[in-house]
Amino acid sequence: MKLAVNIDHIATLREARGEIEPDPVIAAGICELAGAEGIVCHLREDRRHINDRDVRLLREVVKTKLDLEMAATDEMVKIACEVLPDLVTLVPENRKELTTEGGLNIASMKDRLTDVISELSEKEIFVSLFIDPDPKNVDLALEVGADIIEIHTGKYANSVSEDAQIQELSKIGSVARMASEMDLIVTAGHGLNYFNIFPFLNIPEIREVSIGHSIISKAVYVGLQKAVEDMVKIVSKF
Ligand code: PXP
Repeated sequence: MKLAVNIDHIATLREARGEIEPDPVIAAGICELAGAEGIVCHLREDRRHINDRDVRLLREVVKTKLDLEMAATDEMVKIACEVLPDLVTLVPENRKELTTEGGLNIASMKDRLTDVISELSEKEIFVSLFIDPDPKNVDLALEVGADIIEIHTGKYANSVSEDAQIQELSKIGSVARMASEMDLIVTAGHGLNYFNIFPFLNIPEIREVSIGHSIISKAVYVGLQKAVEDMVKIVSKF
């Protein structure tokens, strides 16, 4: 299993003071040196952390795979078509949310997603859809032309009881198997940490995990390189 590191929180810290450091571009290089096989950044409409300069420089610096997380808006599609990340992950975006709260409601925006995916695909950008673990979303993702699904693991991560967690994990596993049989690439992310990641190692269809908060939090104590290396050690067990 591969690790992609979400570096938004490096930019969040920079924006807390409106200064130039810490720089997510430098952080991306350290993550790659520590074994990350992808860098993820979310360019939000309100630019609350990652900004346009970051995305452009990250495109120049990232050697593994740059995943631009974004809403399916005209503004973002234009930026993606100029910057040419390796991958775009389409997510729902709500101004008031602290972080991405749920998966895409594909059914409610089928035509829009079909157009956006086709425009990005013309530029040879792979497209991933961030979805809740519901089999209906797999059919819809195929219908609109996605290459990849990223399964939202937030509900699993926030489960308060072991039963609820097992139930969520089983949903994630069956959606992963279904999507993989339909030739979609499967990844997962949100709320994963150094403890709750282990059961995912038993779902071989999940090829990559996208992790931000827990790695950047650990980095505050032990340094970014060690925090990434520790997670790489876990995920590469599979
Ligand atoms: N995947 C997606 C689509 C996300 O929006 C986020 C949060 O930015 C993550 C993965 C990473 O989540 P976390 O920061 O909780 O590890």
